Order: sequence, then structure tokens, then C-alpha cells
Amino acid sequence: MPARARQRTAARPAARAAAPPRWPSPHILGLQDAKPNDIRALLRLALRCEPHARPGAKPLTALTGRTVANLFLEDSTRTRLSFTLAARRLSAITLDLTTNASSVNKGESLHDTAKTLVAMGADAIVIRHASAGAALLLTREVDACILNAGDGRHEHPTQGLLDAFAIGEAFSRLKSLDFSGIRVAIIGDLANSRVARSDIAALTALGASVICAGPKPLAPDEFRALGCDLTHDPDEALEGAHAVQMLRVQTERAAAVGSLKEYADAWQLTPERAGRLRKGAIVMHPGPMNRGVEIHPSVADSARARMERQVALGVPVRMACLLAAFHAKKLIPASALKP
Ligand code: CP
Repeated sequence: MPARARQRTAARPAARAAAPPRWPSPHILGLQDAKPNDIRALLRLALRCEPHARPGAKPLTALTGRTVANLFLEDSTRTRLSFTLAARRLSAITLDLTTNASSVNKGESLHDTAKTLVAMGADAIVIRHASAGAALLLTREVDACILNAGDGRHEHPTQGLLDAFAIGEAFSRLKSLDFSGIRVAIIGDLANSRVARSDIAALTALGASVICAGPKPLAPDEFRALGCDLTHDPDEALEGAHAVQMLRVQTERAAAVGSLKEYADAWQLTPERAGRLRKGAIVMHPGPMNRGVEIHPSVADSARARMERQVALGVPVRMACLLAAFHAKKLIPASALKP
């Protein structure tokens, strides 16, 4: 080849690799409308964050000088604490507001409360609210990243992501993020569960098959439209499942099926039922658990149980969600997505 032609060949830029998919919005409101690759992008980022979420890890500096406000107008242990920890592991300043300690108690509106947080410099608001759509509402009212930490019966996207992460980890699917062949049973009060809705969205997007089960008043037929199978027989749901997510039944909801005792007699994940699960199957629960109602204490404490791992994985998942939202809002550079 003539020297000049060789030079031209050498100077030609290498074909540019396609940019990896990234969460496209400064808000994380739900997973039901998300593209599978956008869900994968968050989980890949969570996988990168995981070593930095472990106790004793040196905090990352991606959110230095940024402020994340927790606005929890409904009770929470896991989600609130792990969002706080996630923000601090990224070196953000955190603000924490709960119903009991806020002027919401004096009648201040959600709008004015959120504006107050932004006026104090909040770049992101993590909101939990009893009403579906509260997080979406905030995206229209304040200039900040909005992360939904559970809104009514609608969605709990970070729980859906961490549950998918826990299943992917247990069955070595975190690299491929292809869950085909994995069967997940979600059992309990589906009708009132935002966790079930986000779990179904995340798991089916990754290719898992999901079967939901609950007593008829708590497991409406509309659930099939979310892409899962539905049964009113717990043993049918458990048959062949790789993972079982048990859902909490609130005292007042159990009245729809008789009493908590009647519910437990018919629907509890007992040691006998757990003993019939396939080898290697895992037991999950988003918490808080009603031991002795939906799950027997010995199953909750068994080797199959992954509840503590679910909680631990909430931190890297929420780190990833914060990074993705801040990046989409152009508050941090793309390099921050490679911790
Ligand atoms: N899983 C969950 O949302 O738990 P908390 O209500 O404690 O946040």
C-alpha cells in the first residue's frame, strides 16, 4: 500500500461504539412505562455502585455540593434510610422531612413544601406519598430531580429495581440481565401493592415470567394486563418458582378475606410450603413483614430468605437512581456514571 494511503487508513477514526443506554429522564417515577434497556441501564449502574455501597467503602464524590431531600409523607424504614445512605455515599448533603416533623401537619400544601425544599437548594426530592401521582405532580411544580419512593398503589420503582437486582444476583443473571427461564411468584395483597406493580414491570422487562397469587378480593383480574399470570391458589404459584416475593397484608385489608388468622391459614408461606419449593429457590419480602401472617417466622429466618440482602441492595440501586437522574438533568458529567 502506498505510504499516503497507509497514512489515510491510520488516521481514519475507529468506528464509534454505540453509546450505552442511559436512563432518559431527570425523574424516576415508575417502571411500567420504561423501556427494558432503560431498566437495564439502571441495574448496570447499580452493579457498578455495589462495591461502593458496602460498609466501610470510601464515599464517591459524584454529588459533592449537591443536596438530596427526602420528603416522606408516609411511614418508611428501609426506603428512607437507604436513600439517605445512598446520597451520603455519593457525598451529597441530605435533608430529611417526615410528616410528623413538618409544617404539612399545619396544613402546608405539597406544592409549598416542595418549593421550600428547592429554595433551600435541594437538587433532588425523594418523595413518598399516600396518593398515586404525587411524584408526577412534583415534576410539574418544582425544578428538581424527582424520585418516587412509593406513591399510593401506583409504583415503588426503586423497590422493583432492587428486587430484580436480588433475583439477578441469586441466579447469576446480573451480567446478562436476561431473566428468561426464571419464574417469580408474587403472593399476597396485590390490589394494594405498588411493590407488585413495579416488580412485575422490572421482571417482565428482563424476560422473567411472573405469576401473581392472592385471594380474589385482593387479586383482581386486571393484573393480567400487567403481563403476569394470575391464580387464586398459592400452591399453583409456588410450583416451579425460582423466587417468591411475599407481600404484607394489612390488618384492615385482611377483613376483605375474613380475618388475619383466616388469611394466614390459607395463604401463609409455611415451612411445609417452603419445603416444596424447587432446589435453590429464594424467598423475598419487601418489608415490613408480618411474621406469622403472610410468612412463617422460621421461613423468614431460613437459608432461602433474602430479605436482608434486598435491604442491602437498596443502597447501590438508589445510588444508581440518583446518579442517573442527576446526569439526565445535566448536573453531573457522564464520567460520574462510571464509579
Ligand atoms: N419496602 C419498603 O418500602 O419498606 P419501607 O416502607 O420500610 O420503606
